[in-house]
Amino acid sequence: MKKDKRAAIIAGNWKMNKTASEAKELICDLLPLVKDAGCTVIIGVPFTDIAVAVELTKGSNVHVAAQNCHFEDHGAFTGEISPRMLTEAGVEYVILGHSERRQYFAETDETVNKRARAALAAGLKTIICVGESLQQREDGVTESFVGAQVEAALAGMTAEDLKNVVIAYEPIWAIGTGKTATNEQAAEVCEFIRKVVAKLYCEEVAEALTIQYGGSMNAGNAEGLLSMEDIDGGLIGGASLKPNDFAAIVAAASK
Ligand code: 13P
Repeated sequence: MKKDKRAAIIAGNWKMNKTASEAKELICDLLPLVKDAGCTVIIGVPFTDIAVAVELTKGSNVHVAAQNCHFEDHGAFTGEISPRMLTEAGVEYVILGHSERRQYFAETDETVNKRARAALAAGLKTIICVGESLQQREDGVTESFVGAQVEAALAGMTAEDLKNVVIAYEPIWAIGTGKTATNEQAAEVCEFIRKVVAKLYCEEVAEALTIQYGGSMNAGNAEGLLSMEDIDGGLIGGASLKPNDFAAIVAAASK
């Protein structure tokens, strides 16, 4: 399967930004700008914005993602949200294993895998983030590190599960730094991730998998990155908070 047969997905990760009233404004500005998108468009919103995001995107081509979920269905896990809470709220996707969660909230390969399997079991589609630090890149261990992250994240998942999995390659050194990976650097790791998935499953599963790049993707560099064979979409932080910039990235992915 070639790139043009895979689902192109542009997802905004709003991180801890926008109150519900601010979210309303942003979504209302965004919807008309992306209504003719030729790719899947997702907004990854804070939990408190889910209700307004689901309501406002109803009947539109924009899908709603949460930014995390727990692996248990319910219980004494103060501050956590279960997959079923998300599906009942109308959420379709969940972003898991973001480097900020790994770095600041003690998320591990094991908990990312548990959360992802629980999310899939509840009927959510998952966007699983992987990526190396600057030190790891400089040490020449990018592939071994990212490969291990992918293998751990997908442990116990079937080929059928993979239909509802997107992998986002987000080099930590490129996140929020304005320092984007070059088209070649990003494509090289995305291609490697596809090879890892082919080894774990088969060529067919790997070829059908949507792999996104994330890390300072913006209106100016999106087209170049998205033109690369193994980069099927983007996970966008800062630029997803600016409707025109996010729409420009969506337009670049729709070509
Ligand atoms: P920036 O686009 O702000 O670099 O963030 C990328 C990211 O972390 C998306 O998940």
